Amino acid sequence: MRLDGKVVLITGAAGGIGRAASRQFAAAGATVWMGDIAESRPDAAVHGAPEHSTHNLVLDVTKPDSVIGAMAEISRKSGRLDILYNNAGGTQPGDTFLAECDDAVFWNTIAVDLFGTWLCCKHAGPLIKASGGGAIVNTASIVALMGFPANAAYSAAKGGVASLTRSLAVALAPDRIRVNAVAPGVTRSPRVEKSLSAGRISQALQSRHLSGFLECDEIAAKALFLASDMASGMTGQILVADAGVTIA
Ligand SMILES: NC(=O)c1ccc[n+]([C@@H]2O[C@H](COP(=O)([O-])OP(=O)(O)OC[C@H]3O[C@@H](n4cnc5c(N)ncnc54)[C@H](O)[C@@H]3O)[C@@H](O)[C@H]2O)c1
Repeated sequence: MRLDGKVVLITGAAGGIGRAASRQFAAAGATVWMGDIAESRPDAAVHGAPEHSTHNLVLDVTKPDSVIGAMAEISRKSGRLDILYNNAGGTQPGDTFLAECDDAVFWNTIAVDLFGTWLCCKHAGPLIKASGGGAIVNTASIVALMGFPANAAYSAAKGGVASLTRSLAVALAPDRIRVNAVAPGVTRSPRVEKSLSAGRISQALQSRHLSGFLECDEIAAKALFLASDMASGMTGQILVADAGVTIA
């Protein structure tokens, strides 16, 4: 899968899946803008990728000014944007059963996972359109497809991302922009490894991952596929990569 000449923005690029994706997209020939919040600013450690093909970007997907500024910088320096991979997100500490979940946890989760996706789509869309079309890859989760009682806020946010993906696929089709999402099962990013070590992921969920938990590179590869011309003719789809959880 080649992305030669394509310009890509990956959000949450300093995290486990984001880092893997930055590496894979750059190796496929793309110029990759690696966006993350200041505290987690990605370093240049995109192993195996030519240095000139990656750019670090301080980006807070929850802040309109930050997102608008990021698009302006990409436009100024790269002159175009072909692909947006909305990867920033994840469960927030304190996300639990509805009755016990602090309202602030709900809003923080919605802000990053759902509103952040919304904002980046809103401001990247015109740039991708002006480049002649392209692809948006959003990040849902198996929680968008099943009932996870202990992650009420995250489920709401990722369900919203799945719906938004279908809505935007229809809205942006005339602009030649395909919009799809990846729905990962439990994936061994450093954040998730901590939850595993702390015993916060149940044995029942573990056993439903028929081939074991996923690796970050496996999810990044699905995003790369959806972003590439190999996925032409696909839009509005939720690509489930979950080692069988949803069918087991
Ligand atoms: N790892 C899993 O098991 C799993 C499963 C399903 C879905 N996902 C989704 O995959 C994506 C990546 O997950 P991960 O496990 O690699 O997480 P991670 O925590 O390793 O990486 C997430 C990155 O997002 C960044 N981020 C957080 N808030 C941000 C903001 N406001 N603006 C910009 N960046 C911000 C963080 O700094 C971090 O670098 C998330 O959307 C997550 O919900 C992960």
